[in-house]
Amino acid sequence: MFSGRIVKMPNSGTACPIIGTGAWAPDVGDERTTKAKEWLVSALNIGYRHIDTAQSYGTEWAVGEAIRESGVDREDVFVVSKLDNPNHHRVYDSLVESLDKLGFKWLDMFLMHWPIAEMPEGAEEGTWHRLTLNETWEQMENCVRQSKCEAIGVSNFSVKTLTELLKTARIKPAMNQVEMHPYLAQNDLLALCREHDIAVTAYTPSGTDVVRKDPVIVTLAEKYGVTSTQIILAWHLSRDVIVIPKSVKPEHQKENLNLPTLEEEDIKKINALDRGQRICNKPDENGLVWGMSAEELGW
Ligand SMILES: NC(=O)c1ccc[n+]([C@@H]2O[C@H](COP(=O)([O-])OP(=O)(O)OC[C@H]3O[C@@H](n4cnc5c(N)ncnc54)[C@H](OP(=O)(O)O)[C@@H]3O)[C@@H](O)[C@H]2O)c1
Repeated sequence: MFSGRIVKMPNSGTACPIIGTGAWAPDVGDERTTKAKEWLVSALNIGYRHIDTAQSYGTEWAVGEAIRESGVDREDVFVVSKLDNPNHHRVYDSLVESLDKLGFKWLDMFLMHWPIAEMPEGAEEGTWHRLTLNETWEQMENCVRQSKCEAIGVSNFSVKTLTELLKTARIKPAMNQVEMHPYLAQNDLLALCREHDIAVTAYTPSGTDVVRKDPVIVTLAEKYGVTSTQIILAWHLSRDVIVIPKSVKPEHQKENLNLPTLEEEDIKKINALDRGQRICNKPDENGLVWGMSAEELGW
């Protein structure tokens, strides 16, 4: 059941394992440093070779340390990091800072975390220009030219924002990482990404207990003799979508790498659960996500 499948990304000429591990951790005590390093070493020992971090997660140091401590070659691990919203005006410099924290010479994939340029640190309201996503992308392209990352991509891009980006992109994104699970299948976005050879990565791929406890999922878990999480992750793989489940527990890490192959009729049952429901990142009471309206984001 071990899925060591590799996904090729034609827009960058690179490839990554279809199952990776998320590396988000809460900003509490040593959760983002020594504790994160420990469960990342466990993930590497179990066989993960794809790790998803971000400037805003504060775990870049832990990711680099975990790889060195595990003894796995740096070249054998596909590492993703993401540009933080207040760093849109300093893309290259912030990537160099990320590399310093990771202790790497290059990054495998650098994603624009959100199509949202927030006010840079030290700036004052009214004195700074909010870069468009196209202007930020130009700077991302420069990072590839400077050989600081092998591939660039986006995250949290919708059909609307991706279409906007593609109007000016000289390098097409290699990947779009978005919230995706059976309650948020994002079929239109998946089709657009396919059309442009953009690999899709699902974050919050399990859909948390909200989706795990769905009766259809629970019944399928019984049928295949696996857990609900394994059924949901297997559904993503049936759609050739990359997944980055995060677990601090070795037993869950192992489980998430060993997935059944679902029968067509069962894939259809899971497809029918789609209801456009966001679980991880939702607009706040003012309808805003990191200061941007759901409409502007194309949600
Ligand atoms: N681009 C973005 O804006 C964005 C946003 C959110 C997340 N992400 C990325 O996506 C990664 C994963 O997202 P996520 O953490 O929101 O969702 P997730 O991986 O679907 O869910 C994580 C939760 O599921 C539990 N879990 C994992 N495997 C399990 C299993 N086999 N059985 C039971 N419970 C299990 C974990 O608990 P235990 O640790 O106890 O197993 C944890 O509470 C993040 O770490 C981050 O790298 C990106």
